[in-house]
Amino acid sequence: MQNQNHAVPATLFLALLGAAGDLAWRLVVPALYDLYRDGGLPERFALVGVDRKPDTAEALREHYRDGVERYSRLGVGDAATWEAFAVRIDYRAADIEQAGAALGPRLAECALAWGEPPLAVYYLAVPPQLFGPAARGLAAAGLEAERARSRLVVEKPLGRDLDSFRVLDAELAAHFQESQIYRMDHFLGKETVQNLLALRFANPIFEPIWDRRYIDHVAITVAETLGVEHRAGYYEGAGALRDMVQNHLLQIFCLVAMEPPARFDADNLRDRKMDVLSALRPIPAAAVDEYAARGQYGTGWIHGTQMPGYRQEEGVATGSNTETYAAIKLLVDNWRWQDVPFYLRTGKRLAEDVSEVSIRFRPVPHQAWPAGSSSDHGPVRLVLRLHPDEGMDLKLNLKVPGAHFALRQQDLRFTYREAFQVAPPKPYETLLAAVLAGDQSLFMRADQVAAAWEWLDPVLQSWAERPADFPNYAAGSWGPESAERLINRDGRGWLTPTLPARQE
Ligand code: BG6
Repeated sequence: MQNQNHAVPATLFLALLGAAGDLAWRLVVPALYDLYRDGGLPERFALVGVDRKPDTAEALREHYRDGVERYSRLGVGDAATWEAFAVRIDYRAADIEQAGAALGPRLAECALAWGEPPLAVYYLAVPPQLFGPAARGLAAAGLEAERARSRLVVEKPLGRDLDSFRVLDAELAAHFQESQIYRMDHFLGKETVQNLLALRFANPIFEPIWDRRYIDHVAITVAETLGVEHRAGYYEGAGALRDMVQNHLLQIFCLVAMEPPARFDADNLRDRKMDVLSALRPIPAAAVDEYAARGQYGTGWIHGTQMPGYRQEEGVATGSNTETYAAIKLLVDNWRWQDVPFYLRTGKRLAEDVSEVSIRFRPVPHQAWPAGSSSDHGPVRLVLRLHPDEGMDLKLNLKVPGAHFALRQQDLRFTYREAFQVAPPKPYETLLAAVLAGDQSLFMRADQVAAAWEWLDPVLQSWAERPADFPNYAAGSWGPESAERLINRDGRGWLTPTLPARQE
């Protein structure tokens, strides 16, 4: 399975700070259990949860069992399998800064019992304002010192602009080296996102045409039907640009736009991503509306169900200025991409749940069809379907059978599900396996995160200074008019993403 090319460490001490929280329960532990069932964890491993509330290991095990039942890919399985996993779970009640002191003795015990110091992974499943105190506490207990055997995992939000990211990062960098820090972006753990590299660099037919000579533009869509759910506390202060574009969409963009790496190692891959991020044309503060559009959903219907507007959602301010939709145009100042725009869009409560990268090729230079021929063709496109029904379509113009010469666009379709017949691992599994293997290639380096913030800062500032006329799109639509105008201005349009047949 996915662990075949990821080395499993001989011994593992995994500390989960924020053990009682939603992230640990819903994502981290279910993925860890799937890894366990797939043989991705060593025989000798311990999972130690740390949180503030007084609790018992037994209660934590029960809580995690529930999370595994609901969210893991493989399920709990038989009682013996769960028990064998559960006995390795332990709990310590401690404030975040004391977590290091609470964990130290347990780590020493494990090292003694196992006859070697284990790989220690400290997963900070806590809000970012606690990253600094957590790192400080771990360092005060000496837990950062074994650089090759001690790793720290953090997740977004990694700041809310360049300055706040720098402060946050400095708190980590004061105690841990870059080689020890794993910044998660769960999109990088998605099978289809990783496949972008395979597609581009394992098939010689794409690279020669992957540039300004053949490609007219690239559109990346990540559309969700979900609303803000119960996350208004976080989302109100974030919005779509910070929540999705700064990280997930820009990472996808990097994989589409980067130069071929010389080696598939973490630094080389991340250097190539940095090259393209640093080639992004800065957005002038005075011209933000030419590059970016924002939206917020009002009431509307999705698949026959009426949805409330964002401002009616629980925990959202009645006059909220938070965008739930963002579209942005990127221009890349390098040889490969000069004058080829990349359009990124994402939003909540849109018409469908669908994510894709659509690479649109230039038209043929000359059309020499017989007189009287008809045509219903469009731009040739390569569509990489990231979700759902992962796969790809090559949209080609072909002749309709018959005496008359007519063209029509037809899909050449590839679907992972049919080709491989296995359910891919979930992103957190893939990323956890990579942490254990010490492979940072699927994680964001500090300079990338900073570059992404730096590029987006003018838009964030401009939007914060100018309240928007929200709501401006109906739930169940494809977003606001301003996003249409953004792309129409260049003589182009968004196309409806490729949707699988709906299974009612
Ligand atoms: C998260 C965002 O990072 O990604 C959410 O915070 C979003 O707002 C989610 O819904 C989408 O991820 P996925 O894996 O469901 O496509």
